[in-house]
Amino acid sequence: RKKVIIDTDPGIDDAMAIFVALRSPELEVLGLTTTFGNVHTALATRNALHLLEAVGRTDIPVAEGSHVTIRKASKLRIASFVHGSDGLGNQNFPQPATKPVDQSAAAFMVEQANLYPGQVTVVALGPLTNLALAVELDPLFSKKIGQIIILGGAYSVNGNVNPAAEANIFGDPDAADIVFTCGADILAVGLNVTHQVVLTDADREKLEQCDSKYARYLCKIMGIYFDYHKDAYFIKGVYLHDPTTLIAAVNPSLLTYTEGVVRVQTVGITRGLTVFDNTKKKCVIHC
Ligand code: BDR
Ligand code: CA
Repeated sequence: RKKVIIDTDPGIDDAMAIFVALRSPELEVLGLTTTFGNVHTALATRNALHLLEAVGRTDIPVAEGSHVTIRKASKLRIASFVHGSDGLGNQNFPQPATKPVDQSAAAFMVEQANLYPGQVTVVALGPLTNLALAVELDPLFSKKIGQIIILGGAYSVNGNVNPAAEANIFGDPDAADIVFTCGADILAVGLNVTHQVVLTDADREKLEQCDSKYARYLCKIMGIYFDYHKDAYFIKGVYLHDPTTLIAAVNPSLLTYTEGVVRVQTVGITRGLTVFDNTKKKCVIHC
């Protein structure tokens, strides 16, 4: 089974992706690491613990990530208008009984990469601060990590924060550029892909009929995510950003890929823009 660490800012589509991972026999989830993005990091940690409790998987460790960007900015863009102020559809779930491990997200990633050299895939579903910290913590991290699969960027399409930037890259562009240039095997899934993968209103109705605790849970939290998509994009459904990215870990052949190099704009009005060059074939694969 493929060993994965999911770096996440849960988040409704993060919850979907985590559940896909837990339900995929192809994957062994080594741990969840948390980041700011849809919510602040402390709440992301609480949500990660809660999601594992909700489906009886408290055997999986959670390591809390950075509360600030790699350049230590604490003013963050938090997407509560998409996912609710609790990040999970304003359901007021109880405080989880479990606690995160006594180790930072970056330290956990480095530890697992050392334990299983070349075998660990990090699936990054939020801003890339923790991965950039892992690169800084261990200069050989990029050689020891098997693959990094990123939900991030918008390749030849507009961003979703502004015309230039996609939310996860916008959350910490400096960290994203460190990760994209670290030399690891990277597979990036951008909005050009995820805007083609929609859970429609009709799919939602089918999900509501499913006799599964995972489906029941998701149906409870996803109303606000549907409302947001109706208002912001005028579509009858929701984009499956994070689950599509997770699927790239489960079955990469479901997507097509273009090889190239990605750099991230870190200043100015296009801060967070992902620039893709398919004439270079060195460090980045983008699909
Ligand atoms: C990404 O931003 C977050 O809101 C989602 O969870 C997803 O990871 C989409 O741009
Ligand atoms: Ca996310």
